[in-house]
Amino acid sequence: MIAITGATGHLGLATTKALAAKIAPSEIVAVVRDPQKAASTLPQGIVVRQGDYNDPASLLAAFQGVETVLLISTSELEYNARLREHKNVIDAAQQAGVRHIVYTSVVNPSPESAFGASPGHFSTEQYLKDSGLTYTIFRNTLYLDIIPMLVGEGTLPSGKLYSTLGDGKVSYALREEIGEALANVLASKGHDNQTYDIAPGPAYSIQDIAAGLSEAAGQPVEYVPITGEELAATLRQHQVPQPFIDLMVGMTQAMKDNEFNAPSPTFEQLLGRKPTDLKTYLKSVYGK
Ligand SMILES: NC(=O)c1ccc[n+]([C@@H]2O[C@H](COP(=O)([O-])OP(=O)(O)OC[C@H]3O[C@@H](n4cnc5c(N)ncnc54)[C@H](OP(=O)(O)O)[C@@H]3O)[C@@H](O)[C@H]2O)c1
Repeated sequence: MIAITGATGHLGLATTKALAAKIAPSEIVAVVRDPQKAASTLPQGIVVRQGDYNDPASLLAAFQGVETVLLISTSELEYNARLREHKNVIDAAQQAGVRHIVYTSVVNPSPESAFGASPGHFSTEQYLKDSGLTYTIFRNTLYLDIIPMLVGEGTLPSGKLYSTLGDGKVSYALREEIGEALANVLASKGHDNQTYDIAPGPAYSIQDIAAGLSEAAGQPVEYVPITGEELAATLRQHQVPQPFIDLMVGMTQAMKDNEFNAPSPTFEQLLGRKPTDLKTYLKSVYGK
């Protein structure tokens, strides 16, 4: 059986749906915090088990009879809590006799990254490799799906795209297609102890996003550079909680520093077709 954690989240659900189209749903265990939420969202026939990253006993029970676990990284932001949750999943999998863990990491994980999630991914990868379990690591780039958050609501009315990204470029990938690629890996062999950069080319700058937005929305959009301090001040004005402000400022600094500029053919190979590009994505969201 294949267990998918975070199965009621965006990436976990996309993976679960894609996998249910490839193997018998009764071979898939959705490990979820809230089984009621799962009942209304997951495909029919999937085994649903309750499991919380902060509750090792629930994870141990959820992983019984499971050969492979897809560990979707937590949405928790703080380093120690993130790492503890991921360790709980890896330890419980090992105790339950799981053979293989597929883990969703980040491209270029580093303890020094300005991106708040990166050090936790770095340490989790180390812990997973040291566990002796068979692993497959998906080093995910940023989702195309975060672009509306970068663009914000004020851009189209004003025609001004305020951003800290400078000349930094990012290889974006559509979250649903990462789910498909994960399902392809979970349903096939040959991925033992592999680390994959899930980061299609080309990488795009904020100027490319402004141009694509102009074309999709049919109006001029101009990129206006701002500093990290200015971004933080604007988010504060909108009563955004401080941990999320820190995440945004750090993430955009890492984007500016080209940490997510890592084009690789691997994602296209695992997906089995050309991934969705920026222009197509922007048309689907902003096109008239
Ligand atoms: N590459 C990117 O651009 C990007 C962007 C955002 C996040 N991420 C990372 O990638 C992960 C997956 O992305 P996503 O878009 O699917 O995020 P998401 O929709 O927020 O899903 C996160 C999933 O993790 C589950 N989860 C969180 N804490 C848990 C806990 N203590 N025990 C059990 N499950 C827990 C959530 O459960 P519930 O359904 O019960 O809430 C949810 O299903 C995120 O968690 C984050 O680490 C990457």
